[in-house]
Amino acid sequence: MDNIISFNTNSGVLSCQAGCILENLNNYLEERDFIMPLDLGSKGSCHIGGNVATNAGGLRLLRYGSLRGTVLGLEVVLANGMVLNCLSSLRKDNTGYDLKQLFIGAEGTLGIITTVSILCPRKSAAVNVAFLGCDSFEKILDIFKESKSMLGEILSAFEFLDYSCREVVCEHLKLRNPLQEAPFYILIETSGSNSDHDQEKLSHFLEKVMACGLVTDGTMATEENKIKAVWALRERITEALVRDGFVYKYDISLPLERIYEIVIDMKNRLGMRAKRVVGYGHLGDGNLHLNIVSETYDQQVLDSIEPYLYEWVAQHSGSISAEHGLGFKKKDFIYFSKPRAAVQIMQQMKVILDPKGILNPYKTLPSLSQ
Ligand code: LAC
Ligand code: ZN
Repeated sequence: MDNIISFNTNSGVLSCQAGCILENLNNYLEERDFIMPLDLGSKGSCHIGGNVATNAGGLRLLRYGSLRGTVLGLEVVLANGMVLNCLSSLRKDNTGYDLKQLFIGAEGTLGIITTVSILCPRKSAAVNVAFLGCDSFEKILDIFKESKSMLGEILSAFEFLDYSCREVVCEHLKLRNPLQEAPFYILIETSGSNSDHDQEKLSHFLEKVMACGLVTDGTMATEENKIKAVWALRERITEALVRDGFVYKYDISLPLERIYEIVIDMKNRLGMRAKRVVGYGHLGDGNLHLNIVSETYDQQVLDSIEPYLYEWVAQHSGSISAEHGLGFKKKDFIYFSKPRAAVQIMQQMKVILDPKGILNPYKTLPSLSQ
């Protein structure tokens, strides 16, 4: 299940089997001057079929949008054995319901994705990364606004991490922090077609944010090795946290202004009971990864986090799962983010497509009795 079926260099449409590893697809495309429209820390092991089934977001969503836009077609095996061919490679196709959307983000509960056709952007000739230190979350929001106005068309990622994240990656993975200590760090990536123009834009931007005191310290990377080293500080946070203890993982969407408040709130709420409370994520997409660590699994810590956190997120009109899905741990909390009527329709769809409940049972949807 890991064959590339076709790649059209005119349209940029790649068609491949679901078992292809994301990084291998990206390498294949890079040789042809294209890239995959998604990128995740786990690229070396994750499969494109799983990425689509979970509607994975990742580090490039800010630029290339979600898989709901870039996936043009799917082949899916249904619970009754039927092979559903929705393998279009057209950008535009308004003929009836767009059935492939049902399977994107359904976590394998409605069918098994076997082939994916996906629209791939051209590889950018110039990629630059800036890593910045910042002393308050409010300032990060100002830097984000400034980056959209000054780097708009070349901005390809806007990620942030807090001090504790920096601590875990340096402590457990022995990565080196190129900057002075700061409460927050920002990673900004630009991808464009002309390196002189891009560097000029980035330099103007950096001069401006430094001059008005938004940034305390910064470094820029243009060579591939240095870019990778900076990205590792952000991409490898999850890996570092696993080595720190038991991790309670939350992946939430919130309005940007409130996004870090919950990290501070949780820190105060848990006090000494948590070894670490960290916040990082895809700031440009309004997506926070709130991770809490205790030495070992502790039911009391979990009870202090849930459902409190879900109530908080619902009160602020957020989502309790931004990009990781509900799986079986979070399925019963779906009502914090979806009205009853919507969940009922989801359950009806499940019954139509999988009447015997054989596809990824016990996942995503709450049990019918709820
Ligand atoms: C990340 C994973 C946790 O953004 O989604 O690192
Ligand atoms: Zn993420």
